[in-house]
Amino acid sequence: MANEALLIKHTGSGKQVEYPILSASMGADTVDIRALHKDFGCFTFDPGFIATASCKSKITYIDGDNGTLLYRGYPIEQLAQHCDFIEVAYLLMNGELPDATQLRNFNEEILDRATIHESLRKFFDGFHYDAHPMAMSISVVGSLSAFYHSDLDIRDPVSRRVCAARLLGKMPTIAAASFRHSVGRPFVYPRIDLGYCENFLNMMFSRSSQTYIDQNHYIDPEFVKALNLLFILHADHEQNASTSTVRLVGSTGANPYACISAGIAALWGPAHGGANEAVLTMLSEIGNVDNVPKYIARAKDSNDPFRLMGFGHRVYKHFDPRATILRSMCHDILKKTRSNDPLFELALAIEEIALKDDYFIEKKLYPNVDFYSGIIYKALGIPVDMFTVMFAIARTAGWVAHWLEMMGDASSPIGRPRQLYLGPEQRDCVAIKDR
Ligand code: ACO
Repeated sequence: MANEALLIKHTGSGKQVEYPILSASMGADTVDIRALHKDFGCFTFDPGFIATASCKSKITYIDGDNGTLLYRGYPIEQLAQHCDFIEVAYLLMNGELPDATQLRNFNEEILDRATIHESLRKFFDGFHYDAHPMAMSISVVGSLSAFYHSDLDIRDPVSRRVCAARLLGKMPTIAAASFRHSVGRPFVYPRIDLGYCENFLNMMFSRSSQTYIDQNHYIDPEFVKALNLLFILHADHEQNASTSTVRLVGSTGANPYACISAGIAALWGPAHGGANEAVLTMLSEIGNVDNVPKYIARAKDSNDPFRLMGFGHRVYKHFDPRATILRSMCHDILKKTRSNDPLFELALAIEEIALKDDYFIEKKLYPNVDFYSGIIYKALGIPVDMFTVMFAIARTAGWVAHWLEMMGDASSPIGRPRQLYLGPEQRDCVAIKDR
């Protein structure tokens, strides 16, 4: 579409201006309307960024109508089949898949940084036992900025990369520590001889501060594989709410650990990453299969705020390719764990009813990735309040990749949206005695 333009005409003054259309390498082109305010004195109104591209990016491509998700050009289905999470994290950060040496070095770089400072570990003692693991994660990741501020130069690409590796390395340690604090178990130190997901499971489930494996326990390779897959599927999703938050905070030149902490906070909401936890909470509330029709009716009632958690997506309007992959894995894991949890049966009943219901079909509401991820995490023994933390570990790969991309682009401006002001016009203030 090179040289094409969008012509905008002001119906009042008759003034018209052409705005250049920027060509995308795939998908929708973008009209560059940065001069609109200068030309016409008005802004565009697009709450929720329904039609607004906030940046240029080469990392992830989504075609919501066709259910396509590509990381650096590779289809998610192929990455899920051939790679582990660390390879995908490398891809997102560097633009290419690693060879064997690059992967070994990257793994070492990440796992070398998995340990957290003893003083930071003690932060957990300050939290009450029932603090939500997301609340602890936001605080402790944000607190990394207190440990790594003076030696960090965000203008230096090497320093930025160290920071990204540090975040990838420390996230599982912080996540597992949040869980162990909430159940009153001692902290388990990371083991650099284990793979990324294996190490995480070890830190989560060891019965003492010794490691799971040393106690002759066995980490099921199927569980490690499942975790790798879940992490790959959650690793990035272009300019979603949490990634946009990381970019917005990062655009001010803020400390990157504070940026990622802001991303975790944005992820927590039930309309975003918190949906996987919300799905399980919803299933518990529904209780049993007999109640499903009542709750489906509530989800369809526009006067009732209840929504079917794990259904619908801002971008995917036919199917979520991640959900398709997870759906079959969900059924496999349930079979393997022979899980007879009634909540699983209930989830499958909801899935079946909603997929046939006209309301959900007409509004293009299909199960999204989080409908299945929560169910799989539960079958793996991950507690419900840790689900969004699991998502945060995976999404850290995407967050750091976007932060690196933005920081490497000297032309990135500070993020600063405009508004449609509807408040009172200018008026005079009088002292309280005269009011
Ligand atoms: N249950 C019932 N009705 C729904 C649902 C749902 N889960 N989702 C959307 N709708 C309805 C809305 O009420 C609306 O109806 P209307 O046209 O009569 O007003 C219509 O479908 C369109 O919904 P919007 O909220 O406008 O769609 P939007 O794209 O803004 O929202 C969202 C997408 C936030 C994901 C929404 O579908 C939702 O809240 N889903 C449940 C939460 C969820 O699963 N979030 C996880 C998303 S995936 C992720 O973040 C990894």
